[in-house]
Amino acid sequence: MQRLVWLCLCVLAMADIAMGAAPKKPVAVPFGRNYVPTWAFDHIKYFNGGSEIQLSLDNYTGTGFQSKGSYLFGHFSMQIKMVPGDSAGTVTAFYLSSQNSEHDEIDFEFLGNRTGQPYILQTNVFTGGKGDREQRIYLWFDPTKAYHSYSVLWNLYQIVFFVDDVPIRVFKNSKDLGVRFPFNQPMKIYSSLWNADDWATRGGLEKTDWSKGPFVAAYKSFHIDGCESSVNAKYCATQGKRWWDQKEFQDLDAYQWRRLRWVRQQFTIYNYCTDRKRFPTMAPECKRDRDV
Ligand SMILES: *[C@@H]1O[C@H](CO)[C@@H](O)[C@H](O)[C@H]1NC(C)=O
Ligand SMILES: *[C@@H]1O[C@H](CO)[C@@H](O)[C@H](O)[C@H]1NC(C)=O
Repeated sequence: MQRLVWLCLCVLAMADIAMGAAPKKPVAVPFGRNYVPTWAFDHIKYFNGGSEIQLSLDNYTGTGFQSKGSYLFGHFSMQIKMVPGDSAGTVTAFYLSSQNSEHDEIDFEFLGNRTGQPYILQTNVFTGGKGDREQRIYLWFDPTKAYHSYSVLWNLYQIVFFVDDVPIRVFKNSKDLGVRFPFNQPMKIYSSLWNADDWATRGGLEKTDWSKGPFVAAYKSFHIDGCESSVNAKYCATQGKRWWDQKEFQDLDAYQWRRLRWVRQQFTIYNYCTDRKRFPTMAPECKRDRDV
């Protein structure tokens, strides 16, 4: 009997390893394992055997990269050190997106600023080609001084945006309320640095000062733990069995809800859920937001 119990535990433990356990810290993965440059290859520099990279933006071009694979659900993160000094007009983005016309997309966009002025982190979620779900926050640290991790947890129950270990946004599956939720279109992960001085800083008032360029953002820890599938796959073979499908990842826990509330109360600049001018009727999924 005893032996049988041990055997079962052992088999369970092995299954857990095979399925991959939740990472507690950003995992140091070299760029080339998961990603390839997308355009302006000469504007990307590699360091320490590709474990760190730098993207640069000048008056000629920005640049970007994308994941080799497409994924349906999982956990995706990278560490980024934003453009320091005068970064007004620049946008550094980290996002997941499907490739078709009615696309799904999960966005982090970091809007630069004049020296000493705060960055804005804008997030958005597109489902079936429909976005208009912007939220904007200030960060509680200077994102140009050190690396911080930015990550997305995506399963059938929720999409959570994390900054370091702090959830800054959650988009619950509100299919029951008639809201589309990304579930059947694999996404690739992208990042890019480009000029958006027509809207990024103080609504476009602050223009990029090209004499301060080139503008450089640094990256490391290119962690991807997702269910890889072909671009057109509609499901994932291991659906429901991976660590991110398990009970503890289906909702935030009490501590995470408290931290999310802290971010909302202290750092929120804009939330589409409370913008009655733009949306006289509140978007249905906002009702899932406990304190809006
Ligand atoms: C870009 O900037 C460089 C250096 O400031 C300048 O010499 C060049 O003329 C600029 N090019 C364009 C297309 O504006
Ligand atoms: C830039 O700084 C100004 C002044 O402090 C602030 O109003 C704005 O929200 C900051 N961020 C961006 C991206 O405009």
